[in-house]
Amino acid sequence: MSESMKRVLVGVTGGIAAYKSCELVRLLVKRGLDVRVVLTPAATRFVTPLSFQALSGHPARVELFDEAHEAAMGHIELARWADRVVVAPASADFLARIAHGHADDLLATLCLASEAPLFVAPAMNHRMWLHPATQDNVERLRGRGVDFVGPEEGGQACGEEGVGRMAEPRRIVERLLDGDGLFAGRRVMVTAGPTREPLDPVRYISNRSSGRMGFALAEAFAREGAEVTLVSGPVALATPAGVRRIDVETARQMRDAVFQALPGQEFFIGCAAVADYRPEREERRKIKKSFDILELKMRRNPDILAEVAAQPAAPFTLGFAAETEDLRQNALRKLEEKGVDMIAANRVGDGMGFEVERNELEVFWKGGRERLPYQGKDSLARRLVQLMASVVAEE
Ligand code: C5P
Repeated sequence: MSESMKRVLVGVTGGIAAYKSCELVRLLVKRGLDVRVVLTPAATRFVTPLSFQALSGHPARVELFDEAHEAAMGHIELARWADRVVVAPASADFLARIAHGHADDLLATLCLASEAPLFVAPAMNHRMWLHPATQDNVERLRGRGVDFVGPEEGGQACGEEGVGRMAEPRRIVERLLDGDGLFAGRRVMVTAGPTREPLDPVRYISNRSSGRMGFALAEAFAREGAEVTLVSGPVALATPAGVRRIDVETARQMRDAVFQALPGQEFFIGCAAVADYRPEREERRKIKKSFDILELKMRRNPDILAEVAAQPAAPFTLGFAAETEDLRQNALRKLEEKGVDMIAANRVGDGMGFEVERNELEVFWKGGRERLPYQGKDSLARRLVQLMASVVAEE
């Protein structure tokens, strides 16, 4: 996120889409932004200032002449405070008022008094949107550099179809933060760490994964503005800032957590070292050392990455291939067999790959390949995120 973008003033005008502004405020706060909300009196018929107070952590304002609020932060101060102003929903009446420089309520006054870039997300009946009066105002505002997000086409609250729906909150966030990261506003899920497959109440089968690469990737995506969900096996690592973390132990728990949070994810990074097999039986009591040879029967675990990639509306998928030999051949085979979009392959064994700070990767996708040379996992993760952004942009 750029230094210049920390404080957002959200304006809410009267329209049924006002309920979506709650989600907009929630997403902005989640991105670490300081948010203040101003409602027009008409907006308060649809949503309450209290909802916005709860979501933003600051009292929402409505009245221009409110002594208590003015004493805390005067309206001119508030206008100066904002790095960006976004009005969502923006009604036809509101567009008309700011197009003509009215200052007849707090929000219109702030828009007139602020030098911050102004974004508007109109929402209204499609006939109102297409009316020449509204279109003249839109033209005038665009000419002044006001940024329009939407409106979009589709079913409307009034039961009609047409252009007039408010853009989805996530799209508004993306536009607001445009240039604030390669993955600004995008939803990314990362799996990381090992899984533990229990044998009995005290023992399990696991692997050497430390989770470092997955955590470094989650952090790199978050720094590029993504909304990151990290599903992690047992690791001894701190959660990167701004990342939502879900802890699991077994492969099946990881699969369930992934699928529960999957709807709406645009990118899936399978970095976890998921155990391919689990003991067929989990003994309820500790296994006693009464035999010379103990035979274990193992059952295949679900392949989470392949299952995600096979979904009808699958996100863009990146998988890892940790190989001891035939790196290239195995990576290409996995790309094909698992139906993933990209594979990052690394050599393991001989001190490479697991439980180490540094690594190297060879990345394959349908249109090409690239070697990311031996370096620290943090910078390797940043390079991989950049490479992914350019591959996605080429598609
Ligand atoms: O087939 P292999 O285990 O080598 O594939 C590794 C890739 O597949 C990694 O991206 C890993 O996260 C993912 N994987 C998975 N579920 C499994 C096994 C592997 O998601 N059960």
